[in-house]
Amino acid sequence: MTDVLILNGPNLNMLGVREPALYGPATLADVEALCRNKAGALGLTIDFRQSNHEGELVTWIQEARGKIRGLIINAAAYTHTSVAILDALKLLENVPIIEVHLTDPKTREEFRHLSYIEMVADHTIAGDGPNGYVLALEHLSEVMPAPSA
Ligand code: DQA
Repeated sequence: MTDVLILNGPNLNMLGVREPALYGPATLADVEALCRNKAGALGLTIDFRQSNHEGELVTWIQEARGKIRGLIINAAAYTHTSVAILDALKLLENVPIIEVHLTDPKTREEFRHLSYIEMVADHTIAGDGPNGYVLALEHLSEVMPAPSA
């Protein structure tokens, strides 16, 4: 049992290289280190993953059923397209879902304004860069159900 699963979608493995003027200099490894640091301080265990494949993200969400207490997801471009990820997230009963984006998609191109993740997320944090993941962990630590005995 892991407390929090943190999922990252396509192209987030290229952070630091990818459009740095938009996404900043931090790599995904830096983001993971930030999360591990914050989770440790909050006494939470995390499983931090990234995939460029929609189906792999769907499978990971399915496998997390009954094994996690909270989910943080930056579905990247799949945010705006994936009914499959939306449907998978609906399988997670009693698991608070926090949607995170480094940038704020609502202030960018119109095709980024629709979020399928938002339809099931309990909370969205957008535009805070890597610190958004830290804020998401803090939020989860306040709202997650207690570990089952
Ligand atoms: C993103 C925003 C998405 O629109 C984009 O496709 C990404 C990254 C963000 O973190 O700002 O890949 O999710």
